[in-house]
Amino acid sequence: MKVGFGCDHTAIDLKKEMMEYMTGKGYECVDYGAFDATVRVDYPDQGQKVAEAIKDGEIEKGVLICGTGIGISLAANKVPGIRAAVCSEPYSAMMTSKHNATQIIAFGARVVGNEMAKMILDAFFDNEFEGGRHAERVAKITAIEEKYNK
Ligand code: RB5
Repeated sequence: MKVGFGCDHTAIDLKKEMMEYMTGKGYECVDYGAFDATVRVDYPDQGQKVAEAIKDGEIEKGVLICGTGIGISLAANKVPGIRAAVCSEPYSAMMTSKHNATQIIAFGARVVGNEMAKMILDAFFDNEFEGGRHAERVAKITAIEEKYNK
């Protein structure tokens, strides 16, 4: 599976380590920046890049990291059809994969350590959307989006 990674200046090292971890697990990892911890960037830019790459079919899923994971996921969620979830622990990461059909997992470099981040990635990527009643609920999320995107 091809996975895109994006972060702001707070998360350069964590993103690098997570990309190495996921590459070691056999994923094809694509880096959408940022690349330099000494240069401040705006988290919406990387959130948008990764979300649009999913929408355009360049990558299947994404990992977004900023200080908290919140701002970068808010930005990604503005791209129609994209669902990004901020998770600081593995249980939520597993459940969002199974129930919300989220394409993007986000977390905060100032919130979780490297080992917790790896567990979050495992929980997200080792589980799949269950469909069924959950698909009906996800369709309701899409319907809200469509109502306001007309
Ligand atoms: C950057 O200082 C910080 O605001 C950003 O990384 C993130 O936490 C925003 O949600």
